[in-house]
Amino acid sequence: MRVRILGTAAGGGVPQWNCACPGCAAARADPRLRRRHASIAVDDGTGRRYVVNATPDIGEQIEAYPELAPGPGRRETPLAGVILTDAELDHTLGLWRLREAAGLNVIATTTVHRALDGGPHLGQVLGPYAGITRTELPAGEPIVLGDGRLEVRAVPVSAKRPRYAAALDLGEDGWVAALRLTDRRDGTTLVYAPALAAWPPALDEALVGAGAVVLDGTFWDDEEPLRAGFSRKTATGMGHLPITGPDGTADRLAALPAARRLYTHLNNSNPLVLPCDDGHRELARRGIEIAQEGAVIEL
Ligand code: MLT
Ligand code: MN
Ligand code: ZN
Repeated sequence: MRVRILGTAAGGGVPQWNCACPGCAAARADPRLRRRHASIAVDDGTGRRYVVNATPDIGEQIEAYPELAPGPGRRETPLAGVILTDAELDHTLGLWRLREAAGLNVIATTTVHRALDGGPHLGQVLGPYAGITRTELPAGEPIVLGDGRLEVRAVPVSAKRPRYAAALDLGEDGWVAALRLTDRRDGTTLVYAPALAAWPPALDEALVGAGAVVLDGTFWDDEEPLRAGFSRKTATGMGHLPITGPDGTADRLAALPAARRLYTHLNNSNPLVLPCDDGHRELARRGIEIAQEGAVIEL
């Protein structure tokens, strides 16, 4: 299995257009510190590729990597579809940027499909441009994509809904999933979970046999959003288990046998956006990496 990291930032990116925090200011001064919104691209084994989450940066993300470039036909693209972990705007706004598609396969839970139609009217707005095919991603049951080599299993990890969906009558299930991606030829598996509000037993089951785990690293600690002053909620209150502290995920991530253990979806308030931050050394000592844009994970 071959996975390309297309971006590593939480909503807003780094720098965020209206933010002068230390992380955003540093990224404005040094382009090497910029981070596009979190996303990955995975090969289905036939040369076709799925992106996981369609970020506001998707156009530039596709342009940045040769394996996503169009051709050889004038309107041929290796992009076979978009798999969604949730319906948040930072993971879905890019769908509208793909309006030139001849057809767009969107793979998501029923709840996410309904939220995108009920809130930002995806089908109504994008449908007339790029015919949308909706593929259902059932909770817990794997589906197979492409010619049968890429298996995707959605593991529900929380009922946190996007703000636009607060009043939609869609129940509590299917809002946020971790994805277990497996190459069925050799069993290699990567788990991608950029939004993790809880660590349910089903996630532990999904992590068995995973060679790489890419987890929600939005916030360093639970108080970070309060300290940074952009929210009155804690990290957990915002649907993101922090890296450190009593609810922190670092201990569990470090204990996993996976060869690669990484954090992604970093908020611009996270001190890890600064390369000099001590947190990098602390995590590296425990075998944990911070995902780098453009990196390829080969399993
Ligand atoms: C999140 O990850 O919690 C959401 O993307 C927040 C947001 O962008 O509104
Ligand atoms: Mn987000
Ligand atoms: Zn900032």
